Amino acid sequence: MVNPELAIIPQHVAIIMDGNGRWANKRGLPRTVGHSKGVEAVRETVRAAGDAGVKYLTLFAFSSENWSRPETEVRDLLGLLRRFIRQDLAELHRENIRIRVIGEREKLRSDILPLLLEAEETTKFNTSLTLIIAFNYGARDEIARAVAMLARDVEAGILKASEIDPDKISAKLDTAGIPDPDLIIRTSGEERLSNFLLWQAAYSELVFLPDYWPDFDRKLFLDALKIYASRDRRFGGLSDKTIAVGG
Ligand code: IPE
Ligand code: IPE
Ligand code: MG
Repeated sequence: MVNPELAIIPQHVAIIMDGNGRWANKRGLPRTVGHSKGVEAVRETVRAAGDAGVKYLTLFAFSSENWSRPETEVRDLLGLLRRFIRQDLAELHRENIRIRVIGEREKLRSDILPLLLEAEETTKFNTSLTLIIAFNYGARDEIARAVAMLARDVEAGILKASEIDPDKISAKLDTAGIPDPDLIIRTSGEERLSNFLLWQAAYSELVFLPDYWPDFDRKLFLDALKIYASRDRRFGGLSDKTIAVGG
């Protein structure tokens, strides 16, 4: 039987996976141990999302601002992503999961870009969950690149400036074709978006959890879905409940 608390499953869940460093710190361990544990939480979350019937799962893996961390930490994080794709791609593909990568890719190093492209190419016809990895991603950078593309279209005479509207902008974002996130979860107790999906988050429900990302699991994922199911999304209009009782 369907759990009534989970009656409304979000189509797209996006997660700001935060708190790896603090998780490790609390245990007197190096930050990198927290990042490694975080990969296990990623694996569990992907399975949980698929099982719950979520169609799109976006994970914020590395922001365009994360390059400002010490070089050793950046190296660890990139190494973990490479290893995740090498080790898990075959299984994700077997599970019919499609991988998409969002973020700036022009200047990415040659040891990471081909892997990301391979993951997208291998899984492009898969039809269960779409796993969107936000890597070297920053929303302002994404919007600026979209605006530059539109400006080039105007210069080339394919588009009139007066025709630019929100749909035209959405279509040039890295997330083109992906519905906006219904639910954005952030772990670790921080309550901010940190330059994540700023355009797409216009009407997302936000759920902030106190737990650090390495502790995130199926139960916490389902807890977040329950909180989502209890929210009343109005999109600027009136809720169905209000209309039902005559205002
Ligand atoms: C999230 O954990 C991982 C990335 C941002 C890549 P953090 O590394 O930000 O952990 P805290 O926030 O310092 O605890
Ligand atoms: C956001 O976390 C980026 C990722 C989860 C990849 P940060 O830890 O970088 O965010 P701030 O610096 O606390 O805002
Ligand atoms: Mg952090």
